[in-house]
Amino acid sequence: PRSPEMKSRAMGVPLLLLVVLGSAESAFRAHRRYTPDWPSVDSRPLPDWFDKAKFGVFVHWGVFSVPAWGSEWFWWHWKGQGSPDYMRFMSDNYPPGFSYADFGPQFTAHFFDPENWADLFQASGAKYVVLTAKHHEGFTNWPSPVSWNWNSKDVGPHRDLVGELGTAIRKRNIRYGLYHSLFEWFHPLYLLDKKNGFKTQHFVAAKTMPELYDLVNRYKPDLIWSDGDWESPDTYWNSTDFLSWLYNDSPVKDEVVVNDRWGVNCSCQHGGYYNCEDRFQPSRLPDHKWEMCTTVDRQSWGYRRNMMMADVADEAEIIAELVQTVSLGGNYLLNIGPTKDGLIAPIFQERLLAVGKWLNISGEAVYASKPWRVQSEKNASVWYTSKGSVVYAIFLHWPENGVLNLQSPKTTSSAQITMLGIQKDLKWSTNPQEGLLIYLPPSPPSALPVEFAWTIKMTGVE
Ligand SMILES: *[C@@H]1O[C@H](CO)[C@@H](O)[C@H](O)[C@H]1NC(C)=O
Ligand SMILES: *[C@@H]1O[C@H](CO)[C@@H](O)[C@H](O)[C@H]1NC(C)=O
Ligand SMILES: *[C@@H]1O[C@H](CO)[C@@H](O)[C@H](O)[C@H]1NC(C)=O
Ligand SMILES: *[C@@H]1O[C@H](CO)[C@@H](O)[C@H](O)[C@H]1NC(C)=O
Repeated sequence: PRSPEMKSRAMGVPLLLLVVLGSAESAFRAHRRYTPDWPSVDSRPLPDWFDKAKFGVFVHWGVFSVPAWGSEWFWWHWKGQGSPDYMRFMSDNYPPGFSYADFGPQFTAHFFDPENWADLFQASGAKYVVLTAKHHEGFTNWPSPVSWNWNSKDVGPHRDLVGELGTAIRKRNIRYGLYHSLFEWFHPLYLLDKKNGFKTQHFVAAKTMPELYDLVNRYKPDLIWSDGDWESPDTYWNSTDFLSWLYNDSPVKDEVVVNDRWGVNCSCQHGGYYNCEDRFQPSRLPDHKWEMCTTVDRQSWGYRRNMMMADVADEAEIIAELVQTVSLGGNYLLNIGPTKDGLIAPIFQERLLAVGKWLNISGEAVYASKPWRVQSEKNASVWYTSKGSVVYAIFLHWPENGVLNLQSPKTTSSAQITMLGIQKDLKWSTNPQEGLLIYLPPSPPSALPVEFAWTIKMTGVE
């Protein structure tokens, strides 16, 4: 799907003809080229598949999945900060002199079955999947020609992980996104540029830009999830040069979506959609498309063996976050971390499948929905979405007396009210003090279509 703007921009050559015909505006749009500056790059309309998608799965996978302890920032905590916990973990469990690079060969991905992962992601109801192509450790999950001896083809799996997962994901008509860290904690050229106050661009020229262009040309991602931008300005990264190429001339120019992490102070201000901070939860409807990224293991994005049950978000919590995010116009990107041998822990499978089960009934109120006039009732236990003239109210707590009270919808005489997953119309009434009263079906919990977050569908309301 493309937005109308995208179609007209893709129309092509007859600039002169259009000018002759006097349609200056469409000529401008037909030949719209973005220049490498924020006002131009920011003016690009977001391809509309992204807003419709609503739910994606984020996958953090790399050499950090080998120590699998603490978090995916393992190397930084150990060598960058010299954190005592991490130093002790290493001295207790590894021989003296063992380096982070020595974890590389143990990242085997031995049981990685991309079809299997893709089946799981499909069953979760995700419309896009974002894989870490390269995290801050610099290890590339594809055979990057400029990541000598620190990539998944030469070391560890001896496979092209980015390519293999992409093929499986796309077979299922799921959009494929790539996470890419601009900076690398310990790359010598990055450290040199940093020492030079980011007045030199050795690292950008030798690593960042060649790899970004390679990722786009090779894998044609639908989304680039940029990160690791916060130490240096976008002018160091040449971010607007890359983005203007991406939007003007790249093989994905019409469909690609990017986030907002492209240099100091870009977050929440520049780029495509906004992530703002991790786990961003605005309190009001933002005026710019956004995405909330969060992770099932609340303490880590990468897999870690010391995860405790108490750290794992439960199903009701995950679904409530998804509902709230979508009501506020956002997308929900939920992360899981696979193991070093390419397996996804059953607890993560269970959480993803729970979302899929819920979306199977409630997806009508989520996918391709738009925020409604009101986002939630005052106590935040009812959230609204809409689709054309249909209004959906998703309620998180089943009222004890079986009567759901909604203040915001104004009913007309033709109003019709149902619950998704249940065929028959629900009875309702209104009164001036309480607003709309909906009499919920007197079913036992086991007969309800979903276990949490039930959806009321209303037509003929304003
Ligand atoms: C949704 O439910 C239908 C009918 O039970 C089933 O065939 C389908 O596989 C389910 N889809 C998901 C994503 O669970
Ligand atoms: C960054 O962009 C400037 C201006 O377009 C260009 O002169 C420079 O070579 C670029 N640097 C890198 C590392 O690509
Ligand atoms: C980022 O914003 C802060 C606060 O407004 C400002 O002090 C700083 O100079 C900005 N940094 C850059 C690189 O623009
Ligand atoms: C929150 O408000 C709704 C709508 O007014 C009401 O039905 C529900 O009982 C309230 N829930 C809680 C937990 O207060």
